[in-house]
Amino acid sequence: MNNNLDVECLIESANQHLWQNYFAEKETQKRPSVLIRGEGIYVYDSEGKRYLDTFAALLTTLCGHGRPEVTEAVHRQMEKLAFFPGGYDFIMEPTVKLAKKLAEITPGNLSVTFFVNDGSEATEAALKMARQYHWARGEKSRHKVLFRRYSYHGATLGALSVTGLAGFREPFEPLMPGSVSVMPTRCYRCEMGMRPETCDLACLRSLEAVVQWESPSSIAAIIMDPIPGSNTGFPVPPDGYLQGVRELCDKHGILLIFDEIQVGFGRTGKWFCCENWEVVPDILVLAKGFGGGYVPIGAAVATTEVAEAFRVTGGFRHVHTFSGHAVACAAALTNVEIIEKENLVQRSAELGIYLRRRLEELYKHPIVGDVRGMGTLWAVEMVANRETREHLSPEGRAGAYVSERCRDAGMILRNNADLLVMAPPLIMTNEQADGMVGILDEAIRQAVEYLEL
Ligand SMILES: Cc1ncc(COP(=O)(O)O)c(C=O)c1O
Repeated sequence: MNNNLDVECLIESANQHLWQNYFAEKETQKRPSVLIRGEGIYVYDSEGKRYLDTFAALLTTLCGHGRPEVTEAVHRQMEKLAFFPGGYDFIMEPTVKLAKKLAEITPGNLSVTFFVNDGSEATEAALKMARQYHWARGEKSRHKVLFRRYSYHGATLGALSVTGLAGFREPFEPLMPGSVSVMPTRCYRCEMGMRPETCDLACLRSLEAVVQWESPSSIAAIIMDPIPGSNTGFPVPPDGYLQGVRELCDKHGILLIFDEIQVGFGRTGKWFCCENWEVVPDILVLAKGFGGGYVPIGAAVATTEVAEAFRVTGGFRHVHTFSGHAVACAAALTNVEIIEKENLVQRSAELGIYLRRRLEELYKHPIVGDVRGMGTLWAVEMVANRETREHLSPEGRAGAYVSERCRDAGMILRNNADLLVMAPPLIMTNEQADGMVGILDEAIRQAVEYLEL
């Protein structure tokens, strides 16, 4: 119990004055819990209830809550110099050190970082970088960007234009001209109804056809998330797909942008997800876990070759006041150093092996159709029929039901309809993983009973 907090008054003020994410009418009728504290993989509300957060505060708290190293780094930097804008004649230590650290941990010749404040801004910067890169080299016709259906790349108008989710796009259309959608790689729900064992990478062939149809010399970039995010439950691409995309880009002089906002920084058992297939993009987009949940920060990391094109043409025509904010960089640097020092990338790989085994036990429930993921990114897709993969009836709200039962049991679980997604902090122990799977198991069991399946 928190005696100093007038919870009722706070909720009333929130209902009247706070425009939360989404802000749907019906959600204002819900009584929210007031979170007051976080420690490790748990958060605590004003009633003293503890929640195991299986989604790491929207995929951000990779090292968990309450790390004193981060608090101290922020404090030290705030006392010395909180902020001075970059881009003129001045640089600041944490900003430079963080850029250097990124050059060390990112693959290939990714080496020069433009800092921003969140994921949407990072996508936005990458799109503009790609366009200006070609413009600077005299290829002014290259303006189009190809993106995959069902992938999310951000809320701002440019990032939204390359986001493949109709519900997010429709109220804001028309969006950026030259944004062209291509087929996703969702093997469990393949758009062409194929199976990965026999499809011969039909999704890659389809992408090649779109590139030809649109005319390669009009295309600035292809943007993709190497493993798409929680919206589609982390569908791991078939081997050869990302390598094929890289070859296609190289063949036609198209820049490849990887959005690793969800899947970077150890999530897949490598520092960066693309390393699982040894494919290096021209621009790597980062945010979320980059700041460990302590600060908002994002980045577009470019290869030396891409960055060099800007040095000779008067720089990137793109400015953010808070680009490279010293306090944000100090926090993010400490977050990355903790991941390094505590071998959390390796830990994520090990936890992935353990989680696969434990989560696959859930196939004992008839409504569990697919368990997929790697490292610390996992999804359980519930279906009406495992053979046909038919969806459960939306009226049953099975996913929401499971999520509510988990919350009753002290666990925060994200569901997108009947897709249950987990992305716990990299510091999760096997015992905590057992706790997570145990609560999920019981919640699915209750859903089967409730839905009379
Ligand atoms: C893959 C991906 N790209 C971009 C974004 C946008 O990031 P932000 O919400 O920080 O603007 C998100 C956010 O969920 C994301 O998951």
